[in-house]
Amino acid sequence: MDEDRFAGKTAVVTGAASGIGEAIAARLLAEGANVVGLDVAKDALERMAEEFGESFLPAPADVTVEAEVAAALDAAATRFGGVDLAFNVAGASRVGAIVDLEEADWDFTVDLVQKGVFLCTKHEARHIRASGRGGAIVNVSSLNAVVPMPAGSPYSTGKAGVVMFSKTAAVELAPDGIRVNVVLPGLVDTPLVAPVMAYEPAKEMFLERIPAARAATPEEIAGPCLYLASEDASYITGASLVVDGGWDLTTYPDLRRLGG
Ligand SMILES: NC(=O)c1ccc[n+]([C@@H]2O[C@H](COP(=O)([O-])OP(=O)(O)OC[C@H]3O[C@@H](n4cnc5c(N)ncnc54)[C@H](O)[C@@H]3O)[C@@H](O)[C@H]2O)c1
Repeated sequence: MDEDRFAGKTAVVTGAASGIGEAIAARLLAEGANVVGLDVAKDALERMAEEFGESFLPAPADVTVEAEVAAALDAAATRFGGVDLAFNVAGASRVGAIVDLEEADWDFTVDLVQKGVFLCTKHEARHIRASGRGGAIVNVSSLNAVVPMPAGSPYSTGKAGVVMFSKTAAVELAPDGIRVNVVLPGLVDTPLVAPVMAYEPAKEMFLERIPAARAATPEEIAGPCLYLASEDASYITGASLVVDGGWDLTTYPDLRRLGG
């Protein structure tokens, strides 16, 4: 931990109210940054504001609604005098076999994990460019971008899109001194996967595929994300970093074997 690593920097974190986003926000604050927490979970953001004080700005917004994203970024720039770093973490999914999946569930998931990253990157990059200081954006995809998830076609497809979007953004934004990288986490112990972690047979099916034989903590994903945003990664852009305890070396479990 370097208390001054991000001193003087302002970072936007989407999905900051829980799990990986919360861990990223907490570590950024511990290392000197001002943090703008963008999330739909207004009450949780307010609790974080009470805990972290002046350095944390709660910015309630839905990442799939452009007007809300733009307003949150404007508020961030006004409060802290600009934006330097951004972490696009907000995500969730609705599952279902392709032959049964409702169109609305496809739209919900792909809009959230893919369009949300586009809208946030668009407005984050505008503000970082306006500062003239350059900066960095880290998008959180998933191992499911490269390993299919049975009954998770919208999520896997959306997350794969985030990888290509990030590469494209890296090329487009390089002239502005903005680096864009993407992190692909494996299984991470957060509320998102609580149902899997709480159901022993499903948990076992996951863990038997993961060489590290455990889920990551949110902090173990936050660390690599902050590295990619730091000066130590000044020559890294367009990179995809898998953080999965070796899971991509095996294959994804087919939970349909459990029935139900
Ligand atoms: N937990 C895992 O195993 C895992 C693995 C790979 C990738 N991921 C990805 O990591 C990211 C964070 O997941 P997590 O496990 O921390 O989940 P989480 O459920 O703990 O946190 C997700 C946060 O996103 C917020 N959010 C949801 N929809 C939103 C919206 N429309 N606008 C703004 N905020 C919204 C939620 O309110 C919540 O605070 C997600 O993109 C997820 O897909 C998670």
